[in-house]
This record gives sequence, structure tokens and C-alpha cells, in this order.
Amino acid sequence: MPEISESISQRKKEHIALCLTGEVSFKSKTTGFENYDFKHYAITEVDLRKISFNTDFFGKKINYPFLISCMTGGVSEAENINMQLAVAANELNIPVGVGSQRQALENKTYHQSYKALRKNAPSIPVLGNIGAAQIAKLKNLDQVRLLAELVNADVMVIHVNPLQELLQYKGQPDFSGFIKALEKLVRFLDIPVVVKEVGAGISKKAASRLLNIGVKGIDVAGAGGTSWAGVEILRNKSDKGSEFWDWGLPTSYCLRTVGKLKNKFDFMLIGSGGINNAADAAKAFALGADITASARIILQVLDKSGVEGVVQLIKDWFETIKHVMYLTGSNSIEELKDGKLIRKEKFF
Ligand SMILES: Cc1cc2nc3c(=O)[nH]c(=O)nc-3n(C[C@H](O)[C@H](O)[C@H](O)COP(=O)(O)O)c2cc1C
Repeated sequence: MPEISESISQRKKEHIALCLTGEVSFKSKTTGFENYDFKHYAITEVDLRKISFNTDFFGKKINYPFLISCMTGGVSEAENINMQLAVAANELNIPVGVGSQRQALENKTYHQSYKALRKNAPSIPVLGNIGAAQIAKLKNLDQVRLLAELVNADVMVIHVNPLQELLQYKGQPDFSGFIKALEKLVRFLDIPVVVKEVGAGISKKAASRLLNIGVKGIDVAGAGGTSWAGVEILRNKSDKGSEFWDWGLPTSYCLRTVGKLKNKFDFMLIGSGGINNAADAAKAFALGADITASARIILQVLDKSGVEGVVQLIKDWFETIKHVMYLTGSNSIEELKDGKLIRKEKFF
């Protein structure tokens, strides 16, 4: 067995390093967005100057329906990254998530790396984060409340990552008891709970189960972007599990199917997983997302072009989304969701 680091901090450090490369993308599976095109509307009367992206995010006003996905914390490098992400999110007035707070449960060594978010973004929505594997085995719900307090979270995100746990060296592929514990947690916390995948997608059936127990948001984090099977396979330095590199439900499929639950439940649908350009973000909205989110591309742009690069990227994306709205006759994101996409094969 090759040498593989075991501490959560070291693992986090390696995740960041691997995600700064292009090596951890899906190999042949895609998000599926490329199968759709927008329906051009020749008699549009949309006034570009009147389009507003102001959105309500669990009671707070944000300027763009965009979330910087949960990424890091629990390692010294994370403090600087979270500080910069917070500055960017604060400037854009958008929400930002912290990476898994599991390490914070063990000791206080890296508490500053998590606190860096709120310290630099006093009023935007901040999302706490912990995994389903930890929730399933939790003895005391107060621990999650403490994690939320550590970052002064507006929302608590629980990540479900069965594939990653399966392939991770010393992972915890055992979520038995999760749904029962989550149901208790949802009632216990006084902030909303969002459940997210990390790149393998959430099905309609899974989402329905989660919404039934009171979860307020589903972040589909579908397949086609970052492959967390890929990340762990590369960390393991062996081919074991490589048949799962491309495992998962494509982001477009998740949005189309989970979106149907809007008829039955009141929840926030977050579109993420491989959203790496404006066109894909626009298609995610058109397929039903209330808000879109990205992770790896944000980390990469931050690394290359700093806070200003991230701020410019999001501004540019939404400028392009405005143009899509104009060309499809959509005055708002809600109107963009209304029959503005066509599957490409129907053109011919
Ligand atoms: C460096 C890095 C670290 C991540 N760590 C976490 C984490 O701790 N908790 C979590 O819920 N998701 C984590 N994710 C997953 C992302 O939030 C996201 O769901 C996933 O990468 C898919 O989005 P993408 O294709 O835009 O990267 C991480 C992503 C990256 C790039």
C-alpha cells in the first residue's frame, strides 16, 4: 500500500492541491447541459437595464443568485483561501460556504481557518458544513449547533458523499442512522438545513425523502464537473475504484427531475456540479435552479487571478446571463425557467 496521509488536515491540503489541476474532472460523462439550447425569441421586448438579479436567500437579500460552494477549512492553507473567498463574496453580496467542519470537532487548532469567512464577510449568508457520516454517528446534536456558531452560519449544509467515503483511504462508507439523525437535527437547529452531494448528484427519490423530513434546500451537486471519486483515486495512487470515476447523475438530469418536486414542497433548489461558464449557469436556471453554485473553478480562478478575478468572473457570467434572458424574452430568472430550453435534437 503506498503512503497515504491520514489526518483530516493533510487530506484537505491534498484535496486543494488536486483541485487546482484539471486532472480531477469527469472523463467522459458530462453535465448534460450541452444537450440543450435556448429558444431564440425574435420579438423580445426585454429591457436589459431593467433586469435585476436581487434574490432572497433564506431571508437575506443577495445581489446574484449564486453561491460559492463549500470547499475548505481545517488546515492552515484554508484560512487564507476562506479569507479571500469571503472578501469576494462580500463584494458581490452573495453567499459562501465553508468546507467540512469535521476537523473542528476534533480540536481548536484550525478554528481560525473556518472563522475567516465570517470575519471578512460580516453580513452575507454563510453556510456551515458537516458530512452525513458524522451526522449518522452523532451522540449530541449540540455539536452541530457549535459548528454553526463557529462560523455564525445562516444555513447548515450537510454533505452526502457515499461514493467519496467508499473510495477515500480510511473513509466512512456507513451512513446507517443518517435519516433519523437528520430528522432530529432539522428540528433541533434554529437555522435551515440544506443537503448537498459533492458531484454524484441527488435523485428525485432521495430529494423527496429529504424534503419530507424538513430539509429546506437541495444542492444537487451533480456529475460532470469535479469527480470526487477521481480525487480519491489519485490520492490513493492506485487504480482501485477507477470504474467509479464517472459515477453519478448528471447535473442537468438532477435539476430536471428534482425540480418536479416544486409542485409538492417549498424548497430552494441549488444547481451545481460542473457549472463552469455562464451558458451552463443559465441552463441550470432554465432547468429549474433557484440559485447556481460552483466550487473548483472558483478555487482555480482565485489561485490564478485573486479576489478580483473571482469577482470579475461572476459579474461577467451574470452579464452574459442577462444577454441570454434578453434573447429568450425573459424579464426575470423565473421567466427564464418557463419553457426557454429545447433539446437540441428537436431542431432537426
Ligand atoms: C477543494 C474542494 C474542497 C471541497 N470540500 C468540500 C467539503 O468539505 N464539503 C462539501 O460539502 N463539499 C466540498 N467540495 C465539493 C464542492 O462543494 C462541490 O459540490 C463539488 O466540487 C462539485 O462542484 P464543482 O464541479 O463546481 O467543483 C469541495 C470542492 C473542492 C473543489
